[in-house]
Amino acid sequence: MVNPKLIHITDLHFGVSADSVLAGINPLDSFNAVLDAIDENGFGEELLLLSGDLSGVAHRNSYKMLNGLLKNRNKQVAWLPGNHDRFSLMEKYLDNFPFQRVTDLGNWAVLSLDSSQLGTPAGHLSGEELLCAERFLSNLRDRPVLISMHHCPIPIGSSWLDEHKIDNAEDLYNILIRHENIKGVITGHVHQNFEGLWGKLPLYTTPSSCIQFKQGSDIFGISSEPPGYRWFDLNVNGNFTTGVAFASGFNQLPNVNSSSY
Ligand SMILES: [Fe+2]
Ligand SMILES: [Fe+2]
Repeated sequence: MVNPKLIHITDLHFGVSADSVLAGINPLDSFNAVLDAIDENGFGEELLLLSGDLSGVAHRNSYKMLNGLLKNRNKQVAWLPGNHDRFSLMEKYLDNFPFQRVTDLGNWAVLSLDSSQLGTPAGHLSGEELLCAERFLSNLRDRPVLISMHHCPIPIGSSWLDEHKIDNAEDLYNILIRHENIKGVITGHVHQNFEGLWGKLPLYTTPSSCIQFKQGSDIFGISSEPPGYRWFDLNVNGNFTTGVAFASGFNQLPNVNSSSY
């Protein structure tokens, strides 16, 4: 049996139109550059997990553009919302890619949770999401599972971003830790690569497909790193390897002097 693979892309930050620019970068161009890099690395057929901030402005046009682009490039996709998204608009306009709680990947599965809340960039898991986690995990006991959500549950060493971490992460941790088949947690929002441990669970964040935040900075800052993504090679025996890659030939430079995004 061939090992299933998963490609994690996050924080696309599409704008209102195809020529929108975020801190010097056109988010459509950078997303296409990431997809090209994925093709070049031989992962073009693999499922893409898009973990929130698909739009940077919660506008229907972002989702319409993304839907068309993914359809044209013949992609398999799973997605979940971030703080810059609006779930109802995503469901309506990502019409070729219906939201799914559980994504099947060979004998593995990904469970998607919504950690976003209206009116704040910070993360929280509603009672409904926690119940969802309980319910779906009880049906996934027979296979290795990855959990995905937009916000990070632990600090990553950047205090302005750490203020956004999920405020009731322990409620979810107490559910997850009862399931030995949970192999790791994948999140977005922090626009940078980070690998750490959430208690006993391996945790991975991934560079944005658009702009990156400066690592280890206590105040907002943009780094000069190019758009990126993360790959997972999921062994049928329940082990996995993962790594981050960048669209190295991308020729748009982020404006590192931007004071917001
Ligand atoms: Fe973001
Ligand atoms: Fe975010």
